[in-house]
Amino acid sequence: MKKPTIAVIGLGFVGLSLAVVNAKKGFNTLAIDVNKKKLKSYKDGEPDFYEPLLKKYLRDSIKTNKIQFTDKINKVSNSDIIFITVGTPSSKNGKINLNYLNNVINKLIKILKGKKQKRLIVIKSTVIPTTTSKFVSKPFRSLKNVGIVVNPEFLREGNAIKDLLNPHLIVIGANQKEHGEKLEKYYRIFYKKKFEILQTDFTTAELIKYTNNAFLATKISFINSIANLCQNLPNVDVETIAKAIGKDDRIGPLFLKAGPGFGGSCLPKDLNALISFSSKFDNVNTLFKAVKDVNEAQPLRIISIMKKMGLLSAKKTVSILGLSFKKDTNDLREAISVKLVRQLMRSGLKIKVHDPMAIPNFKNIFGYKISYFNDISKCLTGSHCCIILTDWDEYKRLKPKDFTKMKDHNIIDARRVLNPSNFSKFNFKAIGLGSEVVRT
Ligand code: UGA
Repeated sequence: MKKPTIAVIGLGFVGLSLAVVNAKKGFNTLAIDVNKKKLKSYKDGEPDFYEPLLKKYLRDSIKTNKIQFTDKINKVSNSDIIFITVGTPSSKNGKINLNYLNNVINKLIKILKGKKQKRLIVIKSTVIPTTTSKFVSKPFRSLKNVGIVVNPEFLREGNAIKDLLNPHLIVIGANQKEHGEKLEKYYRIFYKKKFEILQTDFTTAELIKYTNNAFLATKISFINSIANLCQNLPNVDVETIAKAIGKDDRIGPLFLKAGPGFGGSCLPKDLNALISFSSKFDNVNTLFKAVKDVNEAQPLRIISIMKKMGLLSAKKTVSILGLSFKKDTNDLREAISVKLVRQLMRSGLKIKVHDPMAIPNFKNIFGYKISYFNDISKCLTGSHCCIILTDWDEYKRLKPKDFTKMKDHNIIDARRVLNPSNFSKFNFKAIGLGSEVVRT
């Protein structure tokens, strides 16, 4: 099979990463988006969000001329495989909004009608089970040369390029065998090495994606519930508990890091969509709702620790280290920092914040109501309390001497990045750490 030509429609974090990795692997790639400002910046080799390796891959692909950017979707008529990676955001009721997807589908029908060359459309956008069979594949039935497959992605922000190069599994949902096989052939050229592939129907593939994210969310809410229990028990630390249960192969050590709750553009959105979808069936969403409830209450744990420490007062200054929803990204979607800062502002505290990357995005939300620092030491100077809210590596390296310029030495480690035994001279509290802890 000769190398197929690729089109990617929708250049968010998944779409742009997918496009540049294809181009880097030597596939002629057409990258399509309606946003002209975005396209201009990509053509100049500048992604509009931070993702490790992305800028390098983008610039290399531009140099080799393997990637072309356009807002003209009709150009896809020359592409063999068309990936759709447009957003499917949450509506107010938790349901996913399919407007962007429907829009692209309607345009593709017009563009591909009457064309003889075979095309494969790949739905990578996360869509609720039955979407592809009910809404996507039906309108294409009259187009004999167009195949549809569902191919969910499992990329983590901050790791997207590496995840694309080393997937743990490729899931292909197809209702016609030849379409699934066509995508499998493309992946065999793409990876060259051995990888695991699972062929299913549309709906199973769609549900695998939701199950994956809902299970990760469940693990986090579960360990956070245990953390909240530990906090009430002298000398008990959730980190020890997580380490112990993680040794059991049936449980595994990952996604057992207690913290202020999960954020980001995926876990909260996908959990909401699953709750909304499963509410149609008899009581099947009880667990999913509980996972959400635990997560929404989790940031309030920080507020309650502050209250107990007597820090919830307009006379106090708080320094927050870490704003992005996790390290190695500047993404603030569903970030706990945004919810926490809003809450702290209501109590009248003076707020100082630091983040290696997310400050410009945070300024767009809070303007000059709070103070921003690129230097950790300056952010901490004169503060009554420090809250660590994102697990950036530079916070893991902090030593007690880095906190000496604080007015009062109150530290709340909401991400468990510091070793409590190094901070015995401080008023040190952490998520999931029993308050009476005595460490040697
Ligand atoms: C998540 C999934 O991990 C990906 O597999 C999936 O492809 C992606 O959603 C998606 O659907 O596109 P992502 O949102 O990038 O990826 O981030 P995660 O690494 O899953 O972290 C999500 C949140 O959970 C973060 O706020 C993180 O800090 C928190 N978390 C994670 C914990 O609080 N504890 C943990 O042990 C792990």
